[in-house]
Amino acid sequence: MPLEAVTSLVTFGSELLNNPRPIGSAVPSSRFLARRMASYLPRAPRGYVIELGAGTGAITAALLKRGIPPEQIIPVERSESMVRLLKRRFPFLKIALGDASELRTLLRTFLAKDNIEISHVVSSLPLRSLPENVVTNIIREVHAVLPKEGKLVQYTYNLSKTSHPCLSGFKRIRTTIVWANVPPARLDVFQKNGKSSG
Ligand SMILES: C[S@@+](CC[C@H](N)C(=O)[O-])C[C@H]1O[C@@H](n2cnc3c(N)ncnc32)[C@H](O)[C@@H]1O
Repeated sequence: MPLEAVTSLVTFGSELLNNPRPIGSAVPSSRFLARRMASYLPRAPRGYVIELGAGTGAITAALLKRGIPPEQIIPVERSESMVRLLKRRFPFLKIALGDASELRTLLRTFLAKDNIEISHVVSSLPLRSLPENVVTNIIREVHAVLPKEGKLVQYTYNLSKTSHPCLSGFKRIRTTIVWANVPPARLDVFQKNGKSSG
C-alpha cells in the first residue's frame, strides 16, 4: 500500500476514534465513489466548487482528476489534522480550515472577497449522524451560497430514497447507488429551488 494511503488511513482512524460523530464513516471514500461524484460536475464549472468535509482528500483527488481547475476547488474541513494532511497532499490548493455551518463567513474571510461565484457544493458531510441543529445550519449556508439552480452533490449511506428533511429547499435531479464503497453509498445531485432551507 502506498505511504500516502497509509497516512490517510491512520489520520482518518485517529480522528474517528477521537470524534466519531462528525466523521460518520469507518474509512475514506473509495475511488469509485469519488470518481462518480466528480463525474457529476462539468470540467469547466462557472464558479468555485466548494468541497465540504474533505477529510483525507479522496473526493478532492477525484475533482482534480476530473480536470476541474485547482484554483476553483476550495476544500473545507473542520479537523486540523486532516487539513494538515490535505495541505501536504495538495500543496497547490487553498484549503479552508473551519466549520461548514459558518460557510458564508468562512469563505468571505478565507478568500478575502465579498462576492464569490459558487456553482457547485460537493459534500461528504455525514448529515445523518450530525446533530440536527448543525445540519440545519449547514444546509441553510449551502442554500445561501448557491445561485438559483446551483447544484449540491451529496452522498449518504442510507440507501433508501428518502432525502434528509433539511433538504426541502432542493430538488433531487439524479440519484445512483455506488456499491463499490465501504459501506455502499447513495449519491444524489440536488438542485436549489426557490424555497429557502432551514
Ligand atoms: C465521511 S468523512 C468524508 C471524508 C472524505 N471526503 C471522504 O469522502 O473520504 C466526513 C468529513 O467531514 C468533516 N466534517 C464533519 N463535520 C464538519 C463540519 N461541520 N464542517 C466541516 N467539516 C466537517 C469530518 O471531519 C470528516 O473529515
